[in-house]
Amino acid sequence: MSVEQQTAAAEETAEQENPNILEVRDLKKYFLIRKEWKIVKEKVPVAPAPTPAPAPAEGEGEAAEAEPEAQPEEAEKPAEPPQEAFKTKHKLEYRKTYVKAVDGVSFNIAHGETLGIVGESGCGKSTMGRSILRLHEITAGSVVFDGKDITKMKASELRKIRPQMQIVFQDPYSSLPPRLPVGEIIGEAVKVHGIVPKSDYRDYIISVMRKCGLQDFYFDRYPHEFSGGQRQRICIARALALKPKFVVCDEPVSALDVSIQAQIVNLLKELQQDMHLTYMFISHDLSVVKHISDRVGVMYLGNFVEMGSKNAIFNSPMHPYTLALLSAVPVPDPHYHVNRIILEGDIPSPANPPKGCKFHTRCSHCMDICKEVAPKFIDYGGGHLCACHLYPQDEPEAQG
Ligand SMILES: Nc1ncnc2c1ncn2[C@@H]1O[C@H](COP(=O)(O)OP(=O)(O)O)[C@@H](O)[C@H]1O
Ligand code: SF4
Ligand SMILES: [Mg+2]
Repeated sequence: MSVEQQTAAAEETAEQENPNILEVRDLKKYFLIRKEWKIVKEKVPVAPAPTPAPAPAEGEGEAAEAEPEAQPEEAEKPAEPPQEAFKTKHKLEYRKTYVKAVDGVSFNIAHGETLGIVGESGCGKSTMGRSILRLHEITAGSVVFDGKDITKMKASELRKIRPQMQIVFQDPYSSLPPRLPVGEIIGEAVKVHGIVPKSDYRDYIISVMRKCGLQDFYFDRYPHEFSGGQRQRICIARALALKPKFVVCDEPVSALDVSIQAQIVNLLKELQQDMHLTYMFISHDLSVVKHISDRVGVMYLGNFVEMGSKNAIFNSPMHPYTLALLSAVPVPDPHYHVNRIILEGDIPSPANPPKGCKFHTRCSHCMDICKEVAPKFIDYGGGHLCACHLYPQDEPEAQG
């Protein structure tokens, strides 16, 4: 048995023991955006002044003796409690304001699976993707990648597993260094991590380029000589040259023309099959996510509100936010009438999210409980999870 076959067999056994390549638990990422001294008003109670005992009036003693039963009710009246007085005080307070970009998410991704992540701009998709790869230091929670908790890893340990976890960014224009030729851009990290022997370097890079639909002579060309689609292929080749197991694709086709989008999505799908890759595919475009994903997670203001198989999310959505997102997808049939659900207002600030269900300020089904109590993220069968008070809340909380 060759070394490669042995490695593949060992990986297969590991996969059978643990089907998940990624296990994320209660992941939080808060950004500190403001530190300031602030003058705040405070109400402080004023101690009541001691009330002097009333001095008996002249002749009062005799009168009381003379008519003892004259005011029995008044004598039994309980003394009224003293009215508590307050005064306003000003004090200086040191305040820190955080953006709760990711506010406690839990989910798993199985080997070879594609988890699509959808949600409005600013809901925390990119922050979550980067936090999982520890490109951001996380605030709380754990990320277990291939059986290892990477949240507690030292930089030296993390460096060793870095090649296995890669990211493809949204903007292929700004994510390529302009002064390096394509071959070097793709090969830079291959050299650093010693992915192949030096003698095989050029051949290996060219083979990766071919896989990604790039011609051999592009090796010595510079990024400005390429179109958006070709640049994104270079970005994908750069990530895949490191032989990763898991790739976060952060809106990889959002900056491309629609015709090129399909080519890149199909390329990602082919490469996934070839290299047995696992993807987290982030996009705000539901039709792209539908095309590539096995499961889909819907995010709103730093949390998942719904997660399930592609069929469950697209054919029987549960959460009002998912319904609104789906109703906004254009249908290429002029005779097909869609009842669009228009969400009122903007997404609230993640620095000061609404109490209870974070979606309640925009939800047409909002009830009193929604304004007070955050709904639990519950599995309603077959791994279809939802966080909404429209559905029973008495089941145990589930992990995605
Ligand atoms: N480095 C940062 N510093 C402060 N706030 C940030 C930073 N990165 C992202 N945010 C904030 O976190 C929230 C989520 O951002 P992001 O993850 O980029 O959203 P998405 O990818 O879903 O559009 C936004 O409110 C954004 O302003
Ligand atoms: S919990 Fe209430 S406010 Fe939130 S989505 Fe469900 S119905 Fe709407
Ligand atoms: Mg983003």
